[in-house]
Amino acid sequence: EIMKDVSGLNHLEKQLEKVLGISRVVIVPGDSDVQPWVKNEMGRACVSEMEERIKNDSIIAVTGGTTVAAVAEMMHPLKHLQANLLFVSARGGLGEQVENQSNTICAKMAEKVEGSYRMLHVPDQLSEESYSSLIEEPSIREVLSLIQSAAIIIHGIGDAKTMAKRRRSSEELLKKIDEENAVAEAFGYYFDQNGKIVHKVKTIGIRLENLYDNKTPIAVAGGRSKAKAIEAYFKEGPQSILVTDEGAAEEILNHN
Ligand code: G3H
Repeated sequence: EIMKDVSGLNHLEKQLEKVLGISRVVIVPGDSDVQPWVKNEMGRACVSEMEERIKNDSIIAVTGGTTVAAVAEMMHPLKHLQANLLFVSARGGLGEQVENQSNTICAKMAEKVEGSYRMLHVPDQLSEESYSSLIEEPSIREVLSLIQSAAIIIHGIGDAKTMAKRRRSSEELLKKIDEENAVAEAFGYYFDQNGKIVHKVKTIGIRLENLYDNKTPIAVAGGRSKAKAIEAYFKEGPQSILVTDEGAAEEILNHN
């Protein structure tokens, strides 16, 4: 397949911005479903978007997943090295492997830019009881308030079923996802194809409303297999920057 030149991708970016109703889309060449290195290219593009927008003392909240892990992988000393950045973990474990958990990712990002970090030490799935007591813990409240004051939020978007299985969710949740036709997942929320929330994982961390009011959310998600998820998430989603790949972009545009 002939790789599109830069102006071809620019054209795709404009089309996708229109279809998704957001003001900035960045597309990297290739399809991360079949070319694993493309994930790192999305990571690199996300780092540049971030670099353009950070200010001194910026707080950056990060979620988990393999794509956000690729952002950490590609992170390099930023041009504002004096900026005193604080990386904060936006979710607890959510059943991910350690290298893909937001705590690990945010520590790695901080290390690469000589910034600092705060982790969110909460288990994945919480009973009603432990939820209500943990949420009162001063150290947890502090991290939650840092998440709320983050200027930039970096998160992935996943296919609902893939994510539910990867996190070894209960039979009950898998069934619910089927019945409610969930197609997308982001930071513990599941969405149907109209962008309606059909399930929230009971855990402590960022809430969808934290992505509004004066924040710059950067969603990083690509691969043809995530086309439906990306489209669904943005049906009702906040004004975010989307960093994606050609595979996902073409698949979304083919259906619109
Ligand atoms: O919430 C979405 C997932 O974190 C995406 O995970 O980047 O490994 O596909 P992924």
